[in-house]
Amino acid sequence: MPPSKNKNTKTNKAAETAENKVVAENENQEVEQTASADLEEKKEVVSEPTTTETKKEDEEKDPKNNESTKEADAPIEDDFTARIIVVTSGKGGVGKTTTAASISTGLAAQGHKTVVVDFDVGLRNLDLIMGCERRVVYDFINVLHGEANLNQALIKDKRTDNLYILAASQTKDKDSLSYNGVGKVLKELSDMGFEYIICDSPAGIEAGALIALYYADEAIVTTNPEISSVRDSDRILGILYAKSRRAVQNKDSVVCKLLLTRYDVNRVTKEEMLSLNDVQELLRIPVLGVIPESKEVLKSSNDGAPVILNTKCDAGKAYQDAVKRLLGEEVPLRFITEKSFFQKIFS
Ligand SMILES: Nc1ncnc2c1ncn2[C@@H]1O[C@H](COP(=O)(O)OP(=O)(O)O)[C@@H](O)[C@H]1O
Ligand SMILES: [Mg+2]
Repeated sequence: MPPSKNKNTKTNKAAETAENKVVAENENQEVEQTASADLEEKKEVVSEPTTTETKKEDEEKDPKNNESTKEADAPIEDDFTARIIVVTSGKGGVGKTTTAASISTGLAAQGHKTVVVDFDVGLRNLDLIMGCERRVVYDFINVLHGEANLNQALIKDKRTDNLYILAASQTKDKDSLSYNGVGKVLKELSDMGFEYIICDSPAGIEAGALIALYYADEAIVTTNPEISSVRDSDRILGILYAKSRRAVQNKDSVVCKLLLTRYDVNRVTKEEMLSLNDVQELLRIPVLGVIPESKEVLKSSNDGAPVILNTKCDAGKAYQDAVKRLLGEEVPLRFITEKSFFQKIFS
């Protein structure tokens, strides 16, 4: 939320109880914010059963909402030749990093020069899933700070040709991500000849997530078949349509596609989970894929090999299908109905 322009100190009761202190925009003078609408907004957000924290807190972390950084942190407005795809969700733990690892591996395996960038500063999961954590010397934040160049920080994948990883820093310095800095790095990657830049976004709408959303041409909206996850994804769609670079520049909107992950047909049948149809009806975006719940996903992560490389498991096959759809092929959906007796025996 932008700082209040109200410089008057109100003395009524509401002002005394309102604990929201804001810094006056021009005079750095603390005033008490009395807007009851703000209190209402806070109440509404607290009652929302989502993992995204309070809306106000998140918005304050958005560098574009901070008047003092707005001018200094101008986004890069150039056109990029690379296709920038953000793997996003409102909720954490839904399978974004698993998806970013598998989709980037799948695109590279199809011959497309691809880089996967970890925007989740502080967590740094992507390099673990890609099995390159011991090879990280320089990371995304080092590049942003000018401590290393991209050639030093990019890690060439050891399994798949055409694939590079830009790891996140484990330091908790999330403020290092700026619209301007990230835009320059994305532009440089694009100019290096990468066809696809896959951005593994953090959960919610913290700064790193908003910056990744801003530069997206395409979004893989990763969602679990449960109402809180769907609701959070819907909120992300709102941001993509309203705040992304494409929206700001009045270009064609970001292409948003649904990836329904951890889909358990048995639980859907028992109505313990939302069905694909339910989720589609709520979000109303085209389906990129449905990834079944599978123990192989965790096994693959522990082995440091993206699950798409496991061509025998259903989750691996479903990610392969999703990559084909991303490249424009028409591939029927699988793993959305219960297996027949014979399928169970032979799988
Ligand atoms: N299709 C799946 N089946 C089973 N477990 C999954 C599946 N996708 C993701 N997971 C598990 O869910 C957890 C969160 O996945 P992750 O990709 O790290 O999510 P995020 O990046 O959204 O936080 C991990 O333990 C991962 O192994
Ligand atoms: Mg993640």
